[in-house]
Amino acid sequence: MFRGVWRKLRALAAAPKALLAQCAAWALALALLRAEVLPSVDVMLAVQAGVAVVVAWGLRSEWWWWAIHAVFSPLAWWASRSAVSPGWYLVAFVLLALFYRGTVRTQVPLYLSNRAAMQALAERLPARPLRVLDLGCGTGTVLCALARLRPHDALVGVENSPALVWLCRWRTRALPGVQVRAGDFLAQDWRGFDVVYAFLSPAPMAAVWEKARQELPAGAWLVSNSFPVPDVAAQLSQPVGREGALQQVLYWYQPNGEAGTAAQKAE
Ligand SMILES: C[S@@+](CC[C@H](N)C(=O)[O-])C[C@H]1O[C@@H](n2cnc3c(N)ncnc32)[C@H](O)[C@@H]1O
Repeated sequence: MFRGVWRKLRALAAAPKALLAQCAAWALALALLRAEVLPSVDVMLAVQAGVAVVVAWGLRSEWWWWAIHAVFSPLAWWASRSAVSPGWYLVAFVLLALFYRGTVRTQVPLYLSNRAAMQALAERLPARPLRVLDLGCGTGTVLCALARLRPHDALVGVENSPALVWLCRWRTRALPGVQVRAGDFLAQDWRGFDVVYAFLSPAPMAAVWEKARQELPAGAWLVSNSFPVPDVAAQLSQPVGREGALQQVLYWYQPNGEAGTAAQKAE
C-alpha cells in the first residue's frame, strides 16, 4: 500500500511535489525542535532544508528543485528577519505573477528564440506569403523578427501572460501584418495556418503535436525550437546556435504530410 501511495505521489505535477516536500520537512523539523532533539533554530532550518531535498529526490523531482529546497526556508527565515519592508516582497510577487502567472500550470517559462533561429526559420520557409502562428509569443521577439525578414507574411502570436500580451502588442503596434491574441494557444483555432512555431518546453509537446495533427492542413509545418515531439521523427533537425546553456535546434515536422499527398491518396 505504501508503495502504491508513493507511486501516486511521484506522478504529481512539479508544484504539488514541491509543496509536499516543504510541508513534510517542516513537520519533521518542528517536531524534532519541540522534542528538543535539535539545539537551535539554525540547526532546525538546516535539517528542514536537508529533509526537503531528500523528499524531493525521493519524489523524483528535477534536480533544480533540490537546489531550491536547499535554500528556500533558510532564505525565507533570513528575509523575514531582515529590515526590508514587506511592501517590496508584494511588489516583486505582483511583477512575477504578471509575467509568469501561467508557468505553474503550463510548465513553460519565458525565454527567447535567438537571432540565428529566426534567420534560419525565415530562410527555410517557402518564399510565398504564409500565415504563421507563434505559440506563446512572449515579448514578441519572433513576431518582430519575422515581420522584418518576411514582411509579406501574416503573423499571429498567442500569449497567456497578461503583462507579456501588453508588451507584445506595444512592440508590434506599428507592424500591420502582426496580430497578438490573449489566451491559451491550445484553446485557439490553428486551421488555416501554414506554419506553427513553438519554443516551449517538453511538457506541452505531445498536446501540441496532437492538435497540429487534428487542425493543420496538409503541407503545413510545425517548427519546434529545442524541444522535439516525443516519439516522432523530425523531417529535419537544424542546429541554430547556443543561447546561454541551451543549444537551440529547430525541429521541422509536417504533421499531415506534404500538400497534395492527401489529395493524391484520395484519388
Ligand atoms: C519560451 S517562451 C517563447 C517566447 C517566444 N515565442 C520566443 O520564441 O522568443 C514561451 C512563452 O509561451 C507562453 N505560454 C506557455 N504556455 C502557454 C499557453 N498554453 N498559451 C499561451 N501562451 C503560453 C509563456 O508565457 C512564454 O511567454
